[in-house]
Amino acid sequence: MRKSLLVLALGVLGIGCFHGLVGCKKAAPPKESQESIGPAGPAKGIPTMNIRKDGFGKLPDGTAVDIFTLTNRNGLKARIMTYGATLVSLETPDRNGALADCVLGYESLDGYLKASPYFGATVGRVGNRIAKGHFTLDGKTYTLALNNDANHLHGGLKGFDKVVWSAESFSEADAVGVKFGYLSKDGEEGYPGNLNITVVYLLTNDNELRISYEATTDKATPVNLTNHSYFNFTAGVRDILGHELMLTADRYTPVDKGLIPTGKLDPVKGTAMDFTTPFTIGARIAKVEGGYDHNYVLNSGGGTLALAARVYEPESGRIMEILTDQPGIQFYTGNFLDGTITGTGGHVYKKNWGFCLETQHFPDSPNHANFPSSILRPGQVYRTVTVLKFSVK
Ligand code: GLA
Repeated sequence: MRKSLLVLALGVLGIGCFHGLVGCKKAAPPKESQESIGPAGPAKGIPTMNIRKDGFGKLPDGTAVDIFTLTNRNGLKARIMTYGATLVSLETPDRNGALADCVLGYESLDGYLKASPYFGATVGRVGNRIAKGHFTLDGKTYTLALNNDANHLHGGLKGFDKVVWSAESFSEADAVGVKFGYLSKDGEEGYPGNLNITVVYLLTNDNELRISYEATTDKATPVNLTNHSYFNFTAGVRDILGHELMLTADRYTPVDKGLIPTGKLDPVKGTAMDFTTPFTIGARIAKVEGGYDHNYVLNSGGGTLALAARVYEPESGRIMEILTDQPGIQFYTGNFLDGTITGTGGHVYKKNWGFCLETQHFPDSPNHANFPSSILRPGQVYRTVTVLKFSVK
């Protein structure tokens, strides 16, 4: 009985029928109010695929911030704002089809302006840490803004999470999306070169949120773009320690006290770092000083889209798979959340209330010749994609 109900719910939601990956062709942008788009239109009672654009407030200098709501035919809903090209909310269904927001964030822009530990943001120019904010490239030493004790973190004092991006929505036969753009000027936060960036969020009817990045530069520069969403598939009701996690990584990059990689690639086997088979996040977290905040070396080696992570929340039945072409993934268990933030839905974000899985180049790559290179040169195109795939069990 229970099984047939589940099958029925999955059928109605269209979950379980994943097709090939959807490309990113541009079509005419929809009007700036709620409307239905897509081919034949929905059957009665089934949500319509659509895009909606609304104002989301203003920065202190008067700059307007917009928010886009993408909804797919199964009712999945992603809201992304132009400040930080930030994923503000993400509603996914549980095994009974009930939708709930599964990322940490705020209901209004104010919260993001006051205190956000990168909730949902696009981070860059270089995500994660660069030791002492120094690196040498082609014989020249660069000094970056220091914003994490003696180190540079997530692009500096005013990283890509704190700028307003241009945005244009678009639709395809089976997906809706928003393309964000930003020009990071030569010298910004200490980085060399004008870096022209686009980030595309695409929500498909196969219940995938695809995040694609592109960038070009006029001087050689390190680039490492990622999304900093904090997930909680209990919909923020409790901490994330009961989520089961699997990572396709036999090795990780150990760090020093300042969370800077030592340069070694250590095997996870036989340690609390091993998620090659599923473990609850909380099972061995006490053995990891401070909690998980480590870069995993993906077995794929990067370069081709491959499964990096699978997360399962047993009570709701929600599953998220992450596919990426990046060589690494930062697993962070919200160790610095301390209950001082009250976010969406009035939830108080205590320690371990969310986890991040940031697909990336290894932290401090510009200072480690043995890590995959994160340097982009003039004439090259930085291109990467990460897919979040949602289903239930
Ligand atoms: C990343 C880092 C963490 C922390 C968070 C933001 O995940 O690895 O150490 O800085 O971002 O709080």
